[in-house]
Amino acid sequence: MIPIIQPLFGPEESAALIEVLRSGWVAQGPKVAEFEQALAPAVGADHVVAVSSATAGLHLALQLAGVGQGDDVIVPSLSFIATTNAAWMVGARPVFADVAPDLPVVSVASVAQVWTPRTRAVIAVHQLGIPFDRQGLRDLCQSRGAVLIEDAACAIGSLHWNKPIATDAELAVFSFHPRKILTTGEGGAVATNNPLHAERLRRLRQHGMTLAADQRQSGAQREQYAEPGWNYRMTDLQAALGLVQLGRLPAILERRRQLAARYDEMLGDLPGVALMWPRECDSWNVQTYCICVAPSSGEGWGDRRDRVLAGLNKAGVGARRGILAAHLEPAWIDHPRVELPYSEAWAAQSLALPLYHAMGEPEQLEVVMRLRELL
Ligand SMILES: Cc1ncc(COP(=O)(O)O)c(C=O)c1O
Repeated sequence: MIPIIQPLFGPEESAALIEVLRSGWVAQGPKVAEFEQALAPAVGADHVVAVSSATAGLHLALQLAGVGQGDDVIVPSLSFIATTNAAWMVGARPVFADVAPDLPVVSVASVAQVWTPRTRAVIAVHQLGIPFDRQGLRDLCQSRGAVLIEDAACAIGSLHWNKPIATDAELAVFSFHPRKILTTGEGGAVATNNPLHAERLRRLRQHGMTLAADQRQSGAQREQYAEPGWNYRMTDLQAALGLVQLGRLPAILERRRQLAARYDEMLGDLPGVALMWPRECDSWNVQTYCICVAPSSGEGWGDRRDRVLAGLNKAGVGARRGILAAHLEPAWIDHPRVELPYSEAWAAQSLALPLYHAMGEPEQLEVVMRLRELL
């Protein structure tokens, strides 16, 4: 099977893990602190707090935004389900916004359209690593007294107006799940430019404790539990992996962009296939290479995509459906919402193709050949 994505691991990762094992300190400790310090400039934020997953990070971000029961959180339906579930985790109501017709991200207009008097936060997603209009959405949220939380789970390495994606962000959340271009096995991080947010995030990720684990171990100070919290810690094993992976980021980005450009070249002439064109102001990390497959005449919206997807999988090509729409999943299908025509079109027609660092020319040609046959 040609995989959809494959982590890039070398002897450096093994050595880093062995070093942590030998140190005897495997839970959250000095490696996590080191990883956070290295990540901050890479994402353009003053502070980074590592957590156990992006889902945990979104949960904490909503808590920091003061969101709870009785509040509304605007989210794109077109996203991995965790974006919607995060609102549910704090007892708030998700309100679905549509995305743009030409890019799978929310716009100022689509968010403004579903604004309610109880909207306290907006989670906007840099979907597939493609940036949304950060300034526009920040201005909208600021003028209406809501907090903008950036779901940057897919966006490490993407640039917006030549700047790393969390530049000036209040709260931006990253994922290091193995489907992402940089992985720690499981893992996530919250980036912020507010030192008070950073301090509270550090508390909330470990039960509301006022001391870091290593300070506590030294015994010099006694910890207190300032408020109730969670166990959302990253381990030093994960962070050691993350540090090596972060060093590989420039090479990973370069390779992904090369492979994407080749796909663009080889697929650009296919009738009924639309490619992804991020805006001029953005540099995309190509977290996921996605195309949209339009139906043939007389077919339902997603029929041709589903047929092509099944055929690719049968031929050993690990393609996947592109982006899901939460409002079409059983968990949220009865949830009240506006019409979401573009989200439904993207969910029905998007198709993610294999793209991984070690992918060679023969594998990429095989994907293209199979795709051409099936179309
Ligand atoms: C947009 C988006 N948000 C959140 C998540 C959740 O990330 P994690 O698996 O680290 O919790 C993902 C993961 O795929 C995602 O794509």
